[in-house]
Amino acid sequence: MPDSTIKPGVLKELQRQVNQELGAAHAYLALAAWCHDQNLKGFARYFSTQAKEEREHAQKFMDHLLDRGTMPRLSALPEPKTDFGGLADIAQQALSMEQSNSAGVNACYAAAVRDGDVAAQVLLQWFVTEQVEEENWANEMVERVEGANCAGGLSDLDRHIERYLTENGMNANGGEGK
Ligand SMILES: [Fe+2]
Ligand SMILES: [Fe+2]
Repeated sequence: MPDSTIKPGVLKELQRQVNQELGAAHAYLALAAWCHDQNLKGFARYFSTQAKEEREHAQKFMDHLLDRGTMPRLSALPEPKTDFGGLADIAQQALSMEQSNSAGVNACYAAAVRDGDVAAQVLLQWFVTEQVEEENWANEMVERVEGANCAGGLSDLDRHIERYLTENGMNANGGEGK
């Protein structure tokens, strides 16, 4: 492997972000399991898909590090929360997770600007746009769950949740999905 072309300030943030994305995947699996257990199969499927996407995000960061002569450092992941008071709690958890993912991506971007790392900035621009979409669907999920407060409303929402939340993403990025 050639010498790393990434300066320490950016490198520290990118290594941290690899693990934050993996931690998010882990946390989404916990949300999916809870929903599955509550017979909310639509939500369970949606969160499983999110877990897969977060792993893909981690892989993008890992590929970037490897392409620039740096070994990604994988760390132990925090144990995700598995106990939830209800679907509103779940939706709120997804939203606050996406907000902290955005903060992580922004910290990477700020470091890349500080260090004049153009290659990292180009990579991170994709993530900045992605996080705008991610926070958007998470906000929509919170609002829809709040609006569907009776049991009938929730099972109806469960049937349609994937369609509601993915149509947003499809429109935002020209129909190619995420
Ligand atoms: Fe992510
Ligand atoms: Fe995400």
